[in-house]
Amino acid sequence: MDAAKRIAEFKRSRGSSLSDAEKAFTARNEGELTAAVETKIHNLNDATMKFGKTMSIVFSLTNEVGGLANALKIFQDHNVNVVHIESRRPKNNDNAFEIYVDIETDNFILEEVVQTLKTEVASITLQDGTTFIPNQHNKNGKIVSPEGSRWFPKKISDLDITSNRVLMYGAELDADHPGFKDEVYRKRRIEFAEYAFKYKYGQPIPRVEYTKEEVKTWGNVYNELMKLYPTHACKQFLENLPLLQKHCGYREDNVPQLEDVSNFLQERTGFTLRPVAGYLSTRDFLSALAFRVFPCTQYIRHPADPFYSPEPDCCHELLGHIALLADKSFAQFSQELGLASLGAPDEEVSKLATCYFFTVEFGLCRENGKLKVYGAGLLSSSGELKHVLTENAPKRMFEPTVACAQECMITTFQEGYFYSDNFEQAKDKMRQFASTIQRPFSVKYNPYTQSIDIISTNKDIAGIVNDIQNELDLLTHALNNMHMIRK
Ligand SMILES: [Fe+2]
Repeated sequence: MDAAKRIAEFKRSRGSSLSDAEKAFTARNEGELTAAVETKIHNLNDATMKFGKTMSIVFSLTNEVGGLANALKIFQDHNVNVVHIESRRPKNNDNAFEIYVDIETDNFILEEVVQTLKTEVASITLQDGTTFIPNQHNKNGKIVSPEGSRWFPKKISDLDITSNRVLMYGAELDADHPGFKDEVYRKRRIEFAEYAFKYKYGQPIPRVEYTKEEVKTWGNVYNELMKLYPTHACKQFLENLPLLQKHCGYREDNVPQLEDVSNFLQERTGFTLRPVAGYLSTRDFLSALAFRVFPCTQYIRHPADPFYSPEPDCCHELLGHIALLADKSFAQFSQELGLASLGAPDEEVSKLATCYFFTVEFGLCRENGKLKVYGAGLLSSSGELKHVLTENAPKRMFEPTVACAQECMITTFQEGYFYSDNFEQAKDKMRQFASTIQRPFSVKYNPYTQSIDIISTNKDIAGIVNDIQNELDLLTHALNNMHMIRK
């Protein structure tokens, strides 16, 4: 049942009627957001911000002994006064019951109560119609979210969960990995995996003392690629590379520390790094990008073949990705790919991941009539970097619908490559492509709370309208100032 209707039904059964604000919420999906609805949303926000306001909550419990007592204790522990309580069994569910409470509190404490209550109850509905359903699992054991789609991280600290779900090459290596028979290398990889698994959001990234052999491997890759960059890399890459050399210790005889690189990126584009032990699923990897977080390996490829790695390593991440993540437009492009993936069906995430592969990893762009490279997979592989700009490498204009159907080659050169006129063009095409993904909600990144706002109700839309109005006011003010200065 619709959340707001659930509250209303309780109130009707008690002989009270819907408030104006509740009517506004039940009027969702009825076409345009009218001024009246906006006003009522505003009024509700004002009212609930006031200290001591009586608010209504419905939460549901399963038939477990002590469930209600545990839930009510949460209100008591937070000194919240429960002024009315009643219960009923929901239709078609004999194993649960719903509890309606009127409480006296303020929004700040309500938020704390809801956070704690989530651990005890099956669902919570607030009087503005907001419903929280703690993580639930579907038949296949996968986490599903309240929106009816796959669970996805809503706040940046949720990446502590998703970033540890390493698919391959964590502490264990496959038999065909160059380091499979090297006990010393395997032991070293376990050390790196532990750094990543122990890492939590907000902590500094552990500094690593790289061995002489590791620095030598890095130096070999670094020197070889530096010869090619001036003629092969795009201008954004070439603009940022000297900054990485100046501020982050990019040198032949030094492996840059992720913490230094992360701090540099944060100042430039808001991106940060977090260490991971190996390959993540495409869904988990893309979801991190939505928060402007780049999952980054910290170990180095095996020295047996410094110019080939079957998996991402820090040579690939630091030399291939970072310079572009320091570019404002590219950073936004990366984040938009991530946002488009949140809660999307598996087949759509797979298409997005393939588009990511043929742009962020293997993409080309035009520059003064010539093709240049911006893909990290190319910019970290001297062999394929030389190959891609030759006539032997088939290339065509990037179209997401075409690119997403092409096979991604992992151990050989790509069969074909895609170019765009610039990042803005690739971004526009990806935006259009993302708009075809079927989701019952839209998402917006909130940089203030570093969380994902779900856009699915009139109230959410009103919030965006308000933000746009503020931006327009700022723009008008700035234009007026410029006009006055010219006079
Ligand atoms: Fe990569």
